[in-house]
Amino acid sequence: MRQCKADYGIDAPGVVRNFFLISLSLLMLSIFSFQIQSALWFWIVFLYSFFTFLPLFATGCWMLYGTKIAKPKIALKIIQNLKLTGNEKLLDLGCGRGILLCEAAKHLPHGKVYGIDLWSSKDQSGNRPEKTLENADREGVKERVSIHTGDVRFLPFPDSSFDVVVSSLCLHNIQGKEEREKSLLEMLRVLKPGGKFAIADIQHAKAYAEFLISQNANVEYSKTNYSYCPPLKIIEGRKL
Ligand SMILES: C[S@@+](CC[C@H](N)C(=O)[O-])C[C@H]1O[C@@H](n2cnc3c(N)ncnc32)[C@H](O)[C@@H]1O
Repeated sequence: MRQCKADYGIDAPGVVRNFFLISLSLLMLSIFSFQIQSALWFWIVFLYSFFTFLPLFATGCWMLYGTKIAKPKIALKIIQNLKLTGNEKLLDLGCGRGILLCEAAKHLPHGKVYGIDLWSSKDQSGNRPEKTLENADREGVKERVSIHTGDVRFLPFPDSSFDVVVSSLCLHNIQGKEEREKSLLEMLRVLKPGGKFAIADIQHAKAYAEFLISQNANVEYSKTNYSYCPPLKIIEGRKL
């Protein structure tokens, strides 16, 4: 029997829903404005509601496109850029439903991937460890995937235990620069010397890069990728 495709959910589902709800309400208002008898009021209401509807609706569509169509391509690019040999031990910080985790596992036939998350369904729809394992099963990589519940600022793994650490769209959810830096320090702690990392995020990429350089890591960061909404940057590097 054919396996169903993995379903990686929708990022920030409440925000996407609000963009569609507000924009569709404005569209209705612009349609109802045809009932207004006064020509001046008609044009004011119509123009305001229609031209506010358009950017809000377009942003909702862009967010859905980013999650469902652009993100799998971004995940593939992140993993390909790591030039894995196939037997690394990799950790995904804030793995959610596992898009990056499963892509990594496909590139690690003799390795092992670990995912850690707090499972916030505000950040991703249907976010639960069972969903991540179900996706790993559907992608045919479940035996190489290990899922953990925890905060990326306090990783439950020993020092120098991973060859690679990746993270996508997780760290900006942590409030406060110092708190985000705690997770970067934890990332460096669990990485082996010479280990690689890649972090994709919609905010703070420059600050992550500057902090990691100040901690003696080697860092490069990519141009802004506009296929995801909001646009994101990827930083890549190595613990020296
Ligand atoms: C937008 S989702 C992205 C999930 C996944 N990385 C992806 O790209 O599909 C952000 C994830 O970060 C997780 N997260 C946020 N803060 C976290 C923290 N302090 N520790 C662990 N996970 C966290 C959320 O639960 C959520 O799964």
